[in-house]
Amino acid sequence: MTRDTIFENADCPDEFSFNQQVVEVFDDMLERSIPCYHQTTGMICTLLQHFCHPNDTVYDLGCSTGTTLLELARQISDINLAFVGIDSSEAMIDKAKIKSKMLSRKPGVSFQKLDIIDADLNECGAVLLNYTLQFLRPPVRLSFLKKVYNALRPGGILIVCEKVISHRPVINRAYIDLYLDFKRNQGYSETEIAKKREALENVLVPFSIHENLDLLKESGFSETESFFQWFNFVSFLSVKR
Ligand SMILES: C[S@@+](CC[C@H](N)C(=O)[O-])C[C@H]1O[C@@H](n2cnc3c(N)ncnc32)[C@H](O)[C@@H]1O
Repeated sequence: MTRDTIFENADCPDEFSFNQQVVEVFDDMLERSIPCYHQTTGMICTLLQHFCHPNDTVYDLGCSTGTTLLELARQISDINLAFVGIDSSEAMIDKAKIKSKMLSRKPGVSFQKLDIIDADLNECGAVLLNYTLQFLRPPVRLSFLKKVYNALRPGGILIVCEKVISHRPVINRAYIDLYLDFKRNQGYSETEIAKKREALENVLVPFSIHENLDLLKESGFSETESFFQWFNFVSFLSVKR
């Protein structure tokens, strides 16, 4: 795995994008930037095993290099599922396809380069939005989630993992500080942390827990609960009734 040093360099990008440079270091970036990334993958796996039916399709929308999807396909061998990863970044999808060939012997895994806003979704048993919704422009999130709701079969699930903000200033500050400590402990320097934060401004737009819950409800999901939280990182489970 190549170490993420993108924001160490003087010529680092002003605005974050999921380009070839990011793809090269992406798996290291995920592990060092998302608290409990592997633990949540394990919980997603458990939820899929509980809710999915044989022959269901599982979509990972914004699948990046396929890390989550390939791990789920590896771990879930007792139910026959079709795993479909979609991402708009060509570099991400190219890498996902290479990893899939190298790591997965499963025929049921495929990757498509598409914008998830425009993509037609077939009927499915589960949809994952693993740190992807936060990258969609806020005005398109509701109509996009309604499309996801319509694609799920009754009893199907949506899993959303997001970085969140709190509108309670003292708690919000505390969570930001704790996340900064996490990144320092992962070996990122103060300069890297500050530059990446600037580059993500207006690209990653986090909602609060309540804003996400309201959005999911308005999209059609009458049942949503959080199943995991690490300070300002939250995972939600919604079920289509
Ligand atoms: C933080 S990464 C997701 C990580 C990934 N889900 C995982 O579990 O490893 C966000 C991804 O969403 C993708 N993305 C953002 N907007 C998109 C869009 N409109 N259509 C498709 N993919 C999108 C980016 O290219 C990027 O790969």
